[in-house]
Amino acid sequence: MKKKIAITKGDGIGPEVVNEGIKILKTISNYTDIELEFEEAPVGGNIWKKTGESLPEKSFEIIKKSDAILFGAIGMPDLPQGVAESAILRLRQELDLYVNLRPIKLYDQLKDRCPLKEEFIGDGIDIIIVRENTEGLYANIGGFLKDEVAVNSMIYTKQGCERIIKYAYEFAKIHKHTKITSVDKANVLKPSQMWRNIFKDIGEQYSNIEQENYYIDAFCQWLIRTPYNFQTVVTGNLFGDIISDEGAFIVGSLGMASSGNIHPGQVSLYEPIHGSAPDIAGQNIANPIGTILSVKLMMEESFNMQDIGKEINKAVEISLNKGRTIDIKNKELKTLSTQEMGDLISNILKNQLKV
Ligand code: NAI
Ligand code: MG
Repeated sequence: MKKKIAITKGDGIGPEVVNEGIKILKTISNYTDIELEFEEAPVGGNIWKKTGESLPEKSFEIIKKSDAILFGAIGMPDLPQGVAESAILRLRQELDLYVNLRPIKLYDQLKDRCPLKEEFIGDGIDIIIVRENTEGLYANIGGFLKDEVAVNSMIYTKQGCERIIKYAYEFAKIHKHTKITSVDKANVLKPSQMWRNIFKDIGEQYSNIEQENYYIDAFCQWLIRTPYNFQTVVTGNLFGDIISDEGAFIVGSLGMASSGNIHPGQVSLYEPIHGSAPDIAGQNIANPIGTILSVKLMMEESFNMQDIGKEINKAVEISLNKGRTIDIKNKELKTLSTQEMGDLISNILKNQLKV
């Protein structure tokens, strides 16, 4: 099987962590039936400084013709407001990447890095957040009135709610989850009331999956109070943005968290959830695991290669017992650079795939 991957290295630590993601992709290409081709498609601040465009048409063409995108964060402190964000929002809108999948998984090896006490970790944390990624407050409907009034509208369509909620139920079913949680603010917001009704209606086709509703404010505290209670969590764009960052920190480091921006069956974009981290850029100390786990998601969600996903997961688990980047450091283990962490994981993966 041949697949084309568009590579967007991005800004700050983007290129450093994406290079480690490419190592994993090359290992997969060398040691399995899947053959991967790469093409760089610059997006973000670095290319904006050269060309005045943060999403040049040439890059967008490469992206549209690819099977999947590995994306490094974009944005830098010296860029005008909105330059980087407009590129991300355009990609999401024009590729109609309506699913934002964000796993929140605490590896056993990283329990020492979890900010929660043992009693709150319970049997462990393994949650999938399914965030709607094209509508809501981020649909970019609004503006300023004489610089004195600012407005954005929270737009939800029936079709938009149905497709993301349906995706979440199917995800829960495929992964044998026994429960699905919907997060909204239906006590106040009209779009949430429509969302809640649709969640209930679609749920009638999934009677084996327990269904529950939370308001976003309450959910924020339950996520750190009983994180072991959640499996698939489906929510709108704004609430998903917020709870996935909360979730990323409880699994040890922002550098561990991966994500997929997905349109099932079409070109989809995979990226760590962290930003370009200008405070540590250029030092070869960033954690590449969020990017490597984004490659795992790419294999599973875009290429239906669950076996390779499992191997990547195993390689990450083994690596965490051997050495770590500074953000997840453990005094008994060697502290590794970004490149060393990537080499370690790709060598473990190579040995697994060789047999
Ligand atoms: P950030 O995620 O870049 O950094 C937050 C903190 O986490 C920093 O202390 C950073 O050093 C640390 N961190 C992040 N990734 C890490 C990693 N892999 N290993 C170790 N430590 C890591 O968020 P911040 O500082 O708010 O944003 C920086 C820039 O990134 C901004 O311009 C922002 O707009 C952009 N951004 C871009 C995103 C994207 O392209 N998808 C997503 C989020 C932010
Ligand atoms: Mg965010």
